[in-house]
Parts: sequence; C-alpha cells; structure tokens
Amino acid sequence: MKLIKVSGEEELSRMAAEYVFSKIKNADRVVLGLATGRTPLGMYRHLSKYSKEYKLSLSHVHTVNLDEYVGSKAYHAYMHQNVFDPIGIPNHQTHIPDGYAVDLEKECMRYEAVIQQLGGIDLQVLGIGENGHIGFNEPGTDFSSRTHVVELTESTLSANAKYFTREKQPRKAITMGIGTILESKEILLLAAGLKKAHAVRELFKGSLNENIPATVLNHHPNVTVIADRGARSLLEEES
Ligand code: F6R
Repeated sequence: MKLIKVSGEEELSRMAAEYVFSKIKNADRVVLGLATGRTPLGMYRHLSKYSKEYKLSLSHVHTVNLDEYVGSKAYHAYMHQNVFDPIGIPNHQTHIPDGYAVDLEKECMRYEAVIQQLGGIDLQVLGIGENGHIGFNEPGTDFSSRTHVVELTESTLSANAKYFTREKQPRKAITMGIGTILESKEILLLAAGLKKAHAVRELFKGSLNENIPATVLNHHPNVTVIADRGARSLLEEES
C-alpha cells in the first residue's frame, strides 16, 4: 500500500484531483468508482476546475457510486450538484444504486450487473469511516460481500446526521460489497482529519481485521492512500 502524506485537506484535495485527472486524461475509456461525503468534496471542486481549464471532453468517463440511502436520493443530489453537473459527465454514463427500488434485493443484483457490463471499475475512490467502514460496509461485514442492503451503525448515523436537516435520516443503505470493491483494478483512499486517525492506524498495521473493514485493502495489489496530518497522527506517534 502506498502512502502519500499531505499536510491538510487543501493539499489532499489537490493531490487526489491530480491523481484522478491523470487517469481520465490518459485513458480512452475509464470507469471511476466514486464516493460521497465530506472528504472528496475538494477533489471534485478541483476536478471541475481542471476539466474546464483543459476543455477536456468527458464522454469517455463512466462512473459508479459506492452507495445510496434506502428511501432517499441524498447521494444522487450530492453527485449531481458536486460532480456530474459541474464536471460535465453525461448522465447516462453515471450509476448510483436506487434507494427507492421496490425490490431492494433485485436492485443490488442489477447494480452488480451494471458494474460487470461496464467491464469492472478501473479506479475506485474511497473515503474511510471513523469506524473503518468503506462504502457503507460496517464493521463485521463479510470480506467477500457483494452489493447489499445494510443497517447503518450508530457511529455512521451520528457522523452523517448533519446532512439530514430537511428529511428524516434513513437507517439503511445500499452499498457496494467489500468483494465488489476489491475487484477494482486500482484503489485511491482519502483520509482527512483526526477522527480518521484510529482507522488509518489500523489500516497500516497490515493485518486483516473484520472489525475495521478498510484493513481488507491490505489484500489488494494496487492501493494508494492520501492522508493528511490529522489522519496520520496515531500512525506517526507509533513510528
Ligand atoms: C460515501 C461512503 C463512505 C464515506 C465515509 C467517510 O459514499 O461510501 O464510506 O466515504 O463515511 O465520509 P466523510 O468523507 O464524510 O468523512
């Protein structure tokens, strides 16, 4: 696992955007796995700036998101507002689980099929939960899991409560499974702030721990982590 050390969120956002942008620029066709949440917001802002500066057509970019709440379109709204509209990715090339699907199990299978039909994910961008979750794969999730419906933990619900001022916060979500994420050809994980320090320290211990889902990335051959000073604080205390 490669670690890129940055000082703070601004540098993290710039480095992450450069990383993703070089993938986009150098490929004839690219499938990006994307995350929502606070951490990648700055990266999306920079990407939007780069795509305008370089006048790059993004007609070769396809995206699949990690997750969506059940009974909500919160992450659809986030992606349109922060990514698809400003960056200019054609709508029909973007994919997000449908949290309003009548048959959620069927929706999970459909989503797996979408990823297969796209030929898999070239680069998956991940954030990390305070409890070590990736996507919404909470502690204890089977490392071979596919896209499935999850009950969110209290830790995740309280970390994300701030986004639900107008609608009731859903307690369930659809998430890509850990097995699905692991099949991505390359993974870029972003970690910012002191609250992520514990999960980051566990990740770099190098051993697998089902209680910290991100540790499964030690099993993947091509992972880069960009972590700021806060997220690295416990890791560096020990070395
Ligand atoms: C979001 C996702 C989550 C977040 C994680 C960190 O699509 O899958 O795993 O990446 O909860 O969220 P932030 O960046 O808000 O701290």
